[in-house]
Amino acid sequence: MSAVDAILRLFKGGDHIVSSDDVYGGVSRLFNRVLTKFGLEFTYVNSSNPDEVETAIRPNTKMVWIETPTNPLLKVTDLEAVGKIAKEKGLLFAVDSTFATPYHLCPGEYGADMVMHSTTKYLSGHNLIIGGIVLTDRKDIQEQLKFIQKSVGAVPSPFDCWLIMEGLKTLSLRMARHSANGMKVAEYLEAHPKVASVTYPGLETHPMHKVAASQMKNGFSGMISFELKGGIPAAIELMNSVQLCQLAESLGAVETMITHPATMTHAEVPEDERRARGLSDGLVRLSVGIEDVEDILEDLDQAFAKVD
Ligand SMILES: Cc1ncc(COP(=O)(O)O)c(C=O)c1O
Repeated sequence: MSAVDAILRLFKGGDHIVSSDDVYGGVSRLFNRVLTKFGLEFTYVNSSNPDEVETAIRPNTKMVWIETPTNPLLKVTDLEAVGKIAKEKGLLFAVDSTFATPYHLCPGEYGADMVMHSTTKYLSGHNLIIGGIVLTDRKDIQEQLKFIQKSVGAVPSPFDCWLIMEGLKTLSLRMARHSANGMKVAEYLEAHPKVASVTYPGLETHPMHKVAASQMKNGFSGMISFELKGGIPAAIELMNSVQLCQLAESLGAVETMITHPATMTHAEVPEDERRARGLSDGLVRLSVGIEDVEDILEDLDQAFAKVD
């Protein structure tokens, strides 16, 4: 969150940001409940539709902020199209690429001036640290961010940095396994009679599958969201019945984690805003780990057996 905050401190009161509507709940909280107090203005759009991004741009707009795929609805944005709009309008273009990681996606190839990752997740990969990084190929931005970081003091410890560096050494191996397992688990869920819908960018049923397939390389990462036919009670029963999968808020580590966004990661997003975004109370998010996929499927099977 400090990495996101550092980017937003490039701006001043009265500046306006166009943002993807489905962003991690902590990002909405920072934007709406902290940064608006300092006069920053935000407009949220469904960035899967580049026209909505363009229409939201005002004379005081300074940056387009995109999360892709999003947390938790896995919406995908066409970075080439949105990057073109940002460049034409002279706006900074920043991408939260936490879910995709550099293994699957390089937003810089589509003109992103800044790419942000929560290193807490896949980059470190083992649920051992909390951190974030901003990547930029612009010297002027790098200097400003370095100054902000030093002035504010949101600096990671050397030990945490070392753990991230250790994690990075196995990033490609882990991501290959996360996405292979993710695909198998998504297909299993899609075929499951107790599941109402599954969202995974690798499935052809995902509305932005073609864009995801063209801009993401080597697969689609390990994040899946789904809804059960039995609604909220069924989701709760499932989450309380898993044994191998961990009921946890975080994501992107070697262990499979199952989450209930409405009461966990996105609990502080007001209910009407959650509804408007399409984030239902019955939504379950799965961060598929690198275990033997048969073990994950077996665990889900035994948990589903307890669900009405
Ligand atoms: C997409 C995304 N961006 C940013 C963050 C914030 O990361 P952290 O918890 O490491 O501050 C998260 C956390 O879940 C996230 O999912």
